Formats: sequence, structure tokens, C-alpha cells
Amino acid sequence: MRAVVVALGKIGLPLAVKIAMAGHEVVGCDVDPRVVELVNAGLEPFPGEAGLQEALGEVVASGRLRATTETTAAVSAGAELVVAVPPLIVDADANPDFRIIDAVVADIGRGLQPQTVVSIETTIPVGTTRSRISPALAELCGLRAEEGFFCVHSPERVYSGRIFADLETYPKLIGGLSEAGERRAAELYEGFLGAEVWRLGSAEAAELTKLAETTYRDVNIALVNEFARFADRHGIDLGLVIEAANSQPFSHLHQPGVAVGGHCIPVYPRFYLSGDPSARLPAAARAVNEAMPAYVVDVLAEALDEGLARARVLILGVSYRGGVKETAFSGAFPLAAELRARGAIPVATDPLYDAGELRALGFEPWGGEPVAAAVLQADHHQFTELAPRDLPGLRVLVDGRGTLDPQTWRAEGVVFRRIGRG
Ligand SMILES: NC(=O)c1ccc[n+]([C@@H]2O[C@H](COP(=O)([O-])OP(=O)(O)OC[C@H]3O[C@@H](n4cnc5c(N)ncnc54)[C@H](O)[C@@H]3O)[C@@H](O)[C@H]2O)c1
Repeated sequence: MRAVVVALGKIGLPLAVKIAMAGHEVVGCDVDPRVVELVNAGLEPFPGEAGLQEALGEVVASGRLRATTETTAAVSAGAELVVAVPPLIVDADANPDFRIIDAVVADIGRGLQPQTVVSIETTIPVGTTRSRISPALAELCGLRAEEGFFCVHSPERVYSGRIFADLETYPKLIGGLSEAGERRAAELYEGFLGAEVWRLGSAEAAELTKLAETTYRDVNIALVNEFARFADRHGIDLGLVIEAANSQPFSHLHQPGVAVGGHCIPVYPRFYLSGDPSARLPAAARAVNEAMPAYVVDVLAEALDEGLARARVLILGVSYRGGVKETAFSGAFPLAAELRARGAIPVATDPLYDAGELRALGFEPWGGEPVAAAVLQADHHQFTELAPRDLPGLRVLVDGRGTLDPQTWRAEGVVFRRIGRG
């Protein structure tokens, strides 16, 4: 098979390498000449993806993968499969901005050859493949959709850092706009994946599956966040409750926390709601989760005797979760805004960001000066090593992720609060 992979980001590059590792000829396309240059030199453009450097070096050296900035030329040279996984940018309210996807689709459409299967892996609102992508391809290439070329949606479901393992284990979902197109796409994916390929019967079913699994997680977290507030009012340890409830196989309660951040979980329920605006539960779950940073500030204000006005409050971690250098929809932003709105002075520290990077993100970097209170926002493992002597002046610590040891702090007279722990 000859395949073209468009957008060599954290998802697209490992996928291109994976196809080449199965013995196929792959051309990877990216608008960023630096990415293209590095890939052609066999060097990974970003760190942190297990096994990528070794595999990339191997497939580039063997000539099975090469990269280019010329997407249209790569597609017009002929390929059985064109996979595109560009980012879909969203605004602060998670409204999608289709400009990058539209540009990629235009580049592909201008070069599309008869009988090619185009697979869009980017997470998109339901109906986008049928109403936006396929018609744009047809108009540009002059071929009839689902006769002259085929278009499918195959949602990317992997987890950055362990993509090769996930590609071998998670079923690959494919939904087409015709029976023939979906069948052809499934055969092509089976030609390089170890995991099962599942045909879903329509692009809409494949689009909805990705939105359903992510919206499920958002709703689940919102439910435990509600339970956490209740548990706090009644002095119940929700950690124990969750463990006990989940000992029964039908219960899969997640953990409560200060915020739901990242590219996916806060965003994809909004994509779902854009197609089903009357759906109540996903909207309510979003509202519950978005209210958590303010709730954490309530907990803090209640515990801090002198009140929040002019209190210096340290935000521990600006990443959206521990272990990743990524601030998309991070809870650190609403937390800082809420603290400021109540007259406090938020300062921030994060082992993955230096002072200049923190400033560029809008945070005042903490320089080790005394702080009245602190909130654990991102569960970086480095924070579990913290001791009271590291935070001079600290009187209240709110653990927004449930990962710190209360005794370490209480033993030194710090008021320790944990969300959902009474
Ligand atoms: N990162 C994740 O953990 C993750 C997980 C699941 C799904 N996804 C999906 O994958 C998509 C892509 O995410 P990513 O993390 O790989 O993004 P990324 O930011 O790492 O990479 C995007 C790449 O696209 C390139 N690009 C932009 N415009 C282009 C164009 N017009 N033509 C060609 N290349 C172009 C950029 O130069 C960049 O190299 C997301 O939108 C999401 O739907 C990501």
C-alpha cells in the first residue's frame, strides 16, 4: 500500500511510522518545514512518545517513510489511503474553528486520485464528515463521492506517550459514507494494525462514539464532584465511598477534583451539544465541572481565618494534569481568576514551567516568598515530595487532586482540606 498521512503531530507522526513499520510506503505531510526536516533526518520533532525515536529512525533509513510540505503533490502521486489528523482549534467556549481542517481537506481534494480512501481521524462534531468534508473533497477533485473516491471517519483514541501500545490494543473504529467505502477502509487499516478493526456502519456513528466516550467521562466526573460537595457537607470520606462502590462491577465512579482540563474532556461534550443543544445531562455536567475551581476557593476561604483579601495563594501546578506540559483548558486559569475576583493574590509554580513561561501564561511566578494558602491544581509527582518547610507561612492547603498525604501537613499545624473528604 502507498499511504499519505497529513499533519505529523503527536498523533499523526506515530501513525505514519506505524503504517511504514508494517512494510508500506508512507509519505507524511506537514505545513511546518521544521517538522518535515526533522522527520526526513529520522529525528523525532517532540519528546515523550515511547518507541517513536527508534521506529522513526528505522523507517526513514529504510526509505519507507519520507516527509514533505507538499500535501497536494503527495496525494496526486496516488495513494490507496490518505489519513488526516490535523488539530481542530476551539475558542474559550469550545466552539470549533474549522480553518485548519478545511485547509487540509482542500490540499487533499486538489490532488485526489480515483478510488482513494480519505480517512479523517480528528475528533469532530457529528455530521462533519458527510456535510462538510466529503462535499469539499468532491468539489475540488471533480470525482463523485463514494464512487470516484471514499471518505470515512476513524476517531483517534490513543493516549499521548503510549500510542504504539494503544494502536495495537484499542479496536480501530471506522464509519463510512457508503458500504463500499467503509469496507475498503477497514481492509486498508487491517493491513497495518494489530488491533481489531470495527466497522460502525456510518461516519456519524464513528463521530458519535468518540464524543460519547469523552462525554461519558465528563458526566461521570461531574457526578462524583456533586457527591464530593455532599460528602464535604456531611463529613464523609468520598475516597472510601468510591472504592467501596466500585467493588461492585457495575460501578465505575471516577475521582472528584478541582478541574477537568485538557484538549478532550472539556471540549468534546461541547461538540456533542452543538449537534444536540437540548441535551440536558452533558450541559449540566459541564456546568458542574466548570464550577469546581470556585468551589475549591470557597473551601479555602472557609478554612483561612483571616479571609482571602490580600492573601497570597500559591497554585501548585498550571498544567491541566500531572506529568504533562500542557495547559489547554487548565483549571489553573479559572482558579487564578476566582482568587483575584475575591481579592487574593494568586502566585503559581510548576516543575515543568520556568518563570518566563509562567508569566507568558498570565501567572505571577512564585519566588519562594511566604504564602498564606496553597491549592494543589495539577498532580505532578514532584508535589508529593513537598513538606511544610518548603512553603513558608502556609496556614491552609487544599488538595484539589487527592494525592497529598494529610498527616505531613497536619503534623505541622497546617489546615489540610481535600475535596470530598469531609
Ligand atoms: N494529543 C492527543 O493526546 C490526542 C488524543 C486523541 C485525539 N487527538 C486528535 O488528534 C488531533 C491532532 O492532535 P495532535 O496532538 O497530533 O496535534 P499537534 O498539535 O501535535 O500536531 C498538529 C500538526 O498539524 C500540523 N498542521 C497544521 N496545519 C496543517 C496543514 N494545513 N497541513 C498539514 N499539517 C498541518 C502542525 O504543523 C502540527 O505538526 C486532535 O485535534 C484530536 O482530534 C489528539
